[in-house]
Amino acid sequence: MNLNAIVAKLDQLRVLPILVADDVQRAIRCVEILAENGLDAVEITLRTPNALRVLAEVVKACPHVCVGAGTLLSAEQIRAVQDVGAGFGISPGITATLARAAADSTLPYFPGVGGASDLMLALEHGFNVVKLFPSDVVGSVKMAKALGGPFPDVRFCLTGGVTQESMPQLLQQSNVLCVGGSWMCTAGLIEAQDWATISALALAASNGARR
Ligand code: 3PG
Repeated sequence: MNLNAIVAKLDQLRVLPILVADDVQRAIRCVEILAENGLDAVEITLRTPNALRVLAEVVKACPHVCVGAGTLLSAEQIRAVQDVGAGFGISPGITATLARAAADSTLPYFPGVGGASDLMLALEHGFNVVKLFPSDVVGSVKMAKALGGPFPDVRFCLTGGVTQESMPQLLQQSNVLCVGGSWMCTAGLIEAQDWATISALALAASNGARR
């Protein structure tokens, strides 16, 4: 999928599950359950020792799911996740080095921003769909609304502390493309292999995000 197709997919789902997982089989099971419940795009964070392998195996095992890589902090990671077939990449923030590496790659990429200066750096490198992080700390709805003034063509994915309860209000803001979060597939739920709860939370998220 190219960037436009991924943005269209996020626009349709309006909620992106974020996984912190270290076990390949559990991650695959979790991603399958999320997809069965309508969430067929996910972000796998590079936050565990085994995360790159988890990402690679989920990409292979779940070709029907758009599998992205999150927590990209370096140019090397951008190359590494692209090499294992990630569909897109996301960072919690932005640096000039990272933005250049992403712009030079073919990986569909969403940098993270926490305010106007970050956003200006993102725009300098051609990125106008960004992650606004951490959503619950930067007051994301107010922030997205305020940034919509000087930057009317930017769309935001709000993540960090989003919940099933906070999601509807966040999605009402017109320049919010989607929200992302781990609440339907927390590391604890995956570790406990609590597939029934993940299934129920994923369905609730998918239904709750629907227009
Ligand atoms: C992220 O990477 O965006 C966040 O860590 C996800 O935040 P959450 O775990 O609070 O949903």
